[in-house]
Amino acid sequence: MARGVTGKRKEPEPDSRPFVGGSGGASASGAAVALPPPPPPGGSRNGTGGGALAPAGVASFPGTSNGAAGSSGGGSAAATAVAPVNDVPPPIDLATVLRSVNDEPLVGPVGDDDVYYLQPRQAVPVSKRPRPPPPGAWTQSTKDILGPDSQHAYVQRWVRMTQLEAKGDVSFRVVVNDGSKDALLNLLGLKNVFIKQLPNMPRAYVSRLVFDCKHESLALMKPGATPVGSGSAAAGGQTVIGGCCYRPFREQKFAEVAFLAISQTEQVLGYGTRLMAQVKERAKRSGLTHLLTCADNNAVPYFKKQGFSKKITLSYPLWQGRIKDYEGVLLMECKLHAQVDYLNMPLLLKAQKCCLVEKLKEVSLSHVVYPGLDVSTMRKPVRLENIPGLAEISWRKDGRSGAAPSTRGGAASGAAPRDEVSLQALKAHLQSVLDQIKAHGSAWPFLEPVNPKETGAIDYYDVIKNPVDLSSIQAKLTAGGFYVTKEIFLADLKRMVENCRTYNGKTHYVTDLACQLERLFQSKL
Ligand code: ACO
Repeated sequence: MARGVTGKRKEPEPDSRPFVGGSGGASASGAAVALPPPPPPGGSRNGTGGGALAPAGVASFPGTSNGAAGSSGGGSAAATAVAPVNDVPPPIDLATVLRSVNDEPLVGPVGDDDVYYLQPRQAVPVSKRPRPPPPGAWTQSTKDILGPDSQHAYVQRWVRMTQLEAKGDVSFRVVVNDGSKDALLNLLGLKNVFIKQLPNMPRAYVSRLVFDCKHESLALMKPGATPVGSGSAAAGGQTVIGGCCYRPFREQKFAEVAFLAISQTEQVLGYGTRLMAQVKERAKRSGLTHLLTCADNNAVPYFKKQGFSKKITLSYPLWQGRIKDYEGVLLMECKLHAQVDYLNMPLLLKAQKCCLVEKLKEVSLSHVVYPGLDVSTMRKPVRLENIPGLAEISWRKDGRSGAAPSTRGGAASGAAPRDEVSLQALKAHLQSVLDQIKAHGSAWPFLEPVNPKETGAIDYYDVIKNPVDLSSIQAKLTAGGFYVTKEIFLADLKRMVENCRTYNGKTHYVTDLACQLERLFQSKL
C-alpha cells in the first residue's frame, strides 16, 4: 500500500461480486455470510481411506479444533452483516492435502511414533533396499528425527493464536457495508486502524474503500471496551485491533488486498500472519486463485513471509486496469493452492517433513544408530573398518569416499563423477554438444526465454510452469555444479522440447524445429 499516494491510480473496473460465493452471500446489501461448507474429503486413490491420517495428527496438534470453540456470535442480530469466521472450523483433511502435495498415496497412522507414514507408490526392489541394521543398532523414528515442533517460534506463535481463537480471546469477522449499525461500527474501527497505521494514506481514500460495498474486510476483534482516546470503534463488546480490506474480482479469480494493518500495540505477535492465513483460506474457498497487493515498501518483508512474491503469474489482462497502481509500492502476488489448508500450515509443514524423512529412509541408512564401541572391554585397538556404521557412511580404507553400499542407485550409470577431472571432462563434452545445438538452423526459437509480448504468447507462462531455453542451460553449464551428470543436462533439453510440444501442439512448425534439435542432441549424448 502506498504511503503518500500521488493520485496515479488506475480506476478499477466497476464490477466485482462479493468475495464469498456459493452460499448466498452475494446479497444486494453486500451482507457477509459464513464460509461455504467444507468440501468432502477426497477419495483415496489406493483405497486406503482419505482420512486415514487425520485423527492422530490433528489430535496431537494444539488448537486445531479452534473453530468450534470460538463460535459464539453466529446467531447474533448482526449475523447477516458480520459473520464470525470462527463459526465454521476449517476441515483438516491432511491426507488429501498430502496426497496432492506429494502425489503419493498415504497410509497411516501406523504407530504412536510415526504419526504420518508414506507408502511409496512403487515399492523399492528388495535388492535396492537399505540393508537391515546390524544387531544392536536401532532406527530412529521420524518423530525422533524431526524433534518437537514447539521449538520453533513460528509454530509457537501459531499455536498461541489458535488457542486464543479457541478461547474466544480473538476472533475474525467478515464485514461488508450493508448499512447495519454493527457493520458500520466495525468498519469505522477498521478505518481508524488503517488510518493510524498507514499515516501517509489520504484519510478520505481509506474511508472510501473501507466503506465501499464492493470491498470486503476481515476484521480482527478482541473482546472488551474500546480504550478511551484510541480512536477505535467497536460493536457488540468487541474492539477492532486489525484487519484486512480487499476487493474480490470473482470472475478474474483474484482479490486485491487494499489495506492491511494491526494496531501498534499488537504487532509482531503473530496476528498479521494469522490474519493473512484467514484471508487466504476465505479466498481459496470462494474459488479465487490469486491475491494481489501493492505492498508498501516497509511491508514488503512481511508480505514475502506470507508467501507473496513480486513475480506476477496471473495473466496480465486479468488484473490490468483493476489494480490500484501507485508509485513507490511493489506489486506482489500470492498464488493460492486449492489443496492447502491455510489455517493449519504448521500441521501441513510437519506432514511434509515427515514425508521427506520417510522418503530418505527408503534410500539411506542415516536414521540408523549403530551400537558404540564398548571401550571398557576392549583388549586391543579396533580396526577402523570394523567400527559399526563406518562403512555404511561411505568410508573407505584408502581414504576416498565411495558410494554408500546401501543407497539406491549409488553405482548406477547416471551416478555423478566425484572427482574434479571427470567433472571438467563432462563439462567440456556438454559444452561442445550445446554449441552444436545452438549453431543448428532450427535452434533460433529456443536461444532465449520466450517473450510473451514479442511472440504474442501472452499465456505462455501460465501454461508452461517450468520454462527452459538454451541460454538458461548455457548459464547453468557455465556456472558449474548443476550438470553433474549428462542425464541432468539431457533432462533440461528434453524439457525444452516437451514445453514446445505442450504449448504449440504436435503439428506446429516450431515443434518440428524442436524435434530436429531433439534428434541432434539424442545422437550426441
Ligand atoms: N518489516 C519487516 N518484517 C516485518 C514487518 C515489517 N514492517 N512486519 C512484520 N514483519 C515480520 C515479523 O517480524 C514476523 O517475522 P518472523 O515470522 O520471522 O518473526 C512476520 O513478519 C510476521 O509477523 P506478524 O507478527 O504475524 O505480523 P504483525 O502482526 O506485526 O502484522 C503488519 C504485520 C500488518 C505489516 C503490521 O506490522 C502493521 O500493521 N504494520 C503497519 C501497517 C502496514 O505497513 N501495513 C501494510 C501496508 S501494505 C498494504 O496494506 C497493502
